[in-house]
Amino acid sequence: MAIYKIKSLDDLQKFAKNLCSKLKAGQIIALTGELGAGKTTLVQMIAKELGIKARVASPTFNLVKEYDVKPEVRGIKKLCHIDLYRIDGKFDDLGLDEYFDDKDSVLFIEWAEKIKKHLPKDVIWIKIDIKKDGTRAIENKIILWLLALAEAGALPFLFLFLRQQ
Ligand SMILES: Nc1ncnc2c1ncn2[C@@H]1O[C@H](COP(=O)(O)OP(=O)(O)OP(=O)(O)O)[C@@H](O)[C@H]1O
Ligand SMILES: [Mg+2]
Repeated sequence: MAIYKIKSLDDLQKFAKNLCSKLKAGQIIALTGELGAGKTTLVQMIAKELGIKARVASPTFNLVKEYDVKPEVRGIKKLCHIDLYRIDGKFDDLGLDEYFDDKDSVLFIEWAEKIKKHLPKDVIWIKIDIKKDGTRAIENKIILWLLALAEAGALPFLFLFLRQQ
């Protein structure tokens, strides 16, 4: 687990840029954190990094909003954004499964803890905490360097190394 200290929107922007550079098509990012923590802001920043010009706002009437990534970035053709804040219905009624299986998109889910048990296991969890002084701490359960290692095909070697310890 890695914790990032975010002192300003600039810091969040840097975090977003770093995360975006490692995103792959088909990935799901589960965002948690209290009201106003910065979940939507992070999605907006990622959208900008992906070259999306449309204004990204939290889906209110529709549960899901989709944005085209043009030209596509590393196979990412769409960014999908789900906000579950107002949802207290049954998961089966939400019709979200099709988004989980979409291999051409990156999917961001605000308040994802509400459907935790229905999410695929390889979801990337990102938790934003607001500190007393207003700064944020971002907890990233899949450490970004792990993603980078996976990208470099180095994970099997790491696994072998750890087994020998
Ligand atoms: N790291 C930060 N530093 C300063 N201000 C921030 C930071 N992150 C977000 N904000 C500000 O906090 C406000 C709320 O952010 P945002 O709407 O992204 O929160 P949220 O987690 O999506 O909230 P909600 O749960 O209501 O959807 C915005 O005005 C945003 O600019
Ligand atoms: Mg929000």
